[in-house]
Amino acid sequence: MKKLEQLYEGKAKKVFKTDVEDVYIVSYKDDATAFNGLKKGTIAGKGAINNMMTNRIFKMLEEKGIPTHLVEELSERETAVKAVEIVPLEVIVRNVAAGSFSKKLGIEEGTKLLAPTLEFSYKNDELGDPFINDYYAIALGLATREEIEKITELVLKVNEILKEYFKQANIDLIDFKVEFGRYHGEIVLADEISPDTCRFWDSETHDHLDKDRFRRDLGNVEDAYMEVAKRLGIQ
Ligand code: C5P
Repeated sequence: MKKLEQLYEGKAKKVFKTDVEDVYIVSYKDDATAFNGLKKGTIAGKGAINNMMTNRIFKMLEEKGIPTHLVEELSERETAVKAVEIVPLEVIVRNVAAGSFSKKLGIEEGTKLLAPTLEFSYKNDELGDPFINDYYAIALGLATREEIEKITELVLKVNEILKEYFKQANIDLIDFKVEFGRYHGEIVLADEISPDTCRFWDSETHDHLDKDRFRRDLGNVEDAYMEVAKRLGIQ
């Protein structure tokens, strides 16, 4: 497979066209940003860890009936994916209060929620990814009612599978963000699932094993990413 011109460069990944129909290549970077790009840095080795972790998880989810964009891992940092059209929504599921949810509602971080919550943000850097609901998404033409229903069904299933998967690694899945894509009329899971996009807490110590270590200057950022990879049997 030949890598052709770059289609897109995001904060953590680049996407390239290929000479194969309907296949793109995603290339993971070590760059890290937070607070809508206001804080910038590098997390050494992050690109490789996030690439391999995402692929491992997407493969496991596929086996459990969740359609994803994964085609095949090409190298440490590069993966062939289906050429999806990204639905411009950040889809966030929370099991435990943390981050913006705790701040907005004045609920202590670590408070277990009585049921998983689901929220949407409009993927738009200029606007800082504003919080919207399903009515906004439909009214703005970001997704159809059917697509929102499918995304909701899939992401809640993904949450249940991931909670169990990480529990076995002694990690609590506090919350996470995913994106979905359209591929030949089907909604498939896209983007990544990694310490950049999830909150992972050690089940016993509640140590933060995710990007909050970078966002909050907690130190040992690289070690935390490697620890999650190690516990999942990656590397
Ligand atoms: O900041 P907030 O509490 O809303 O984040 C919820 C979850 O979504 C966290 O796991 C965070 O890592 C993830 N997230 C993300 N990309 C964003 C915003 C949030 O991966 N742009």
